[in-house]
Amino acid sequence: MTPNRLVDIPWAQFSALSVDQKAPYLAQSDGTPFHTLFAQQFDFALLDRLTHLATEIRGIAKTRAGMGFLHELVCHKRAMLYFSQPSSRTFLSFLSACQILGVQTGEVRDTATSSEFKGESREDSVRTFSSYFDMIIMRTPEKGLAEHTAWMLSNSERPIPIINAGSGQDQHPTQSLLDIYTLVRSFENIGGLRDRTVVFVGDLARGRTVRSLSHLLTNYPNIRQIFVAPPQLQIGEDVLANLRGKGVAYQLSDDFRAAIPEADAIYMTRVQDEWDKEKGDSARIDITRFHFGLEQLKLLRPHAILMHPLPRREEIAVAVDHDPRAMYWRQMRNGMWIRTALIATTFGCDKRIHEYHRQNL
Ligand code: NCD
Repeated sequence: MTPNRLVDIPWAQFSALSVDQKAPYLAQSDGTPFHTLFAQQFDFALLDRLTHLATEIRGIAKTRAGMGFLHELVCHKRAMLYFSQPSSRTFLSFLSACQILGVQTGEVRDTATSSEFKGESREDSVRTFSSYFDMIIMRTPEKGLAEHTAWMLSNSERPIPIINAGSGQDQHPTQSLLDIYTLVRSFENIGGLRDRTVVFVGDLARGRTVRSLSHLLTNYPNIRQIFVAPPQLQIGEDVLANLRGKGVAYQLSDDFRAAIPEADAIYMTRVQDEWDKEKGDSARIDITRFHFGLEQLKLLRPHAILMHPLPRREEIAVAVDHDPRAMYWRQMRNGMWIRTALIATTFGCDKRIHEYHRQNL
């Protein structure tokens, strides 16, 4: 690991930059992430590198000898899982990724049991973790906390990497990595992730996974994005401005039925009612037209895939799960492999993995 450039810039100056301008400050000297905070840190070359590494890791992990090799790769490192917002799969996925690489873990999931309850600031708490750990993986309801923590630790005597595992309604960069990995794998034998239509459905206003994935898709050629939602839950203008700036074709719609036959991939999301300004606000929106059941399945093209970051509610009928185009369970498992690839790359052991793969597989 090489030190990142966040030491070169005061917080007031850094925080005023656009996300695109911030990205280079978070990288190691070889261009790989030191801190992983935003989807904007990943370009095509880096995504290609991570998806290949994830596939190598998953191949190596198939044998006992391979697993043994992976287990000792970073067994001298410890990671803190700081999840102050509910999570099951992202938490377990990161935990499993750490275990695969032999990284020891500690966790705080309930701030009521930490010294934050005694009035300690979030910054002081996180700084405490940095005394014991070599990486912090953090999920918080606050939009900029991971970013501020990254800056603060980079400017402390123990700079350690931060991985953003979901920050407020804003970003979920590692979810979008697993979404990209799923798309790349699904299309690899039928022309690749290019010239495709991705349809996003549901609560696009408050779903951070959509915001991050919409951006990552701009790294692939000719991917049209269709945003299907009731007007109150439609995608934010900042996401659309980003697409216009990159010359990416997009459409807004509230006609799900019409969009299904156009899709190569459909990305369903749940209503994010935990963000309601007044309790019950979301319940007043009719979302049933944006559900996917056996009727909708008939309209889906044979090669198309159905994705969901999970957890789901009623937006995908359980009866759909058995269709081979339902990709969400495999999508979730892909998360473990791509997060393993990201942690391995952050700790600089990706070359040893390539070498092992070349020699043994
Ligand atoms: C998503 C999240 O937390 O943003 N879940 C996840 O990480 N798989 C989606 C959601 O909660 O709806």
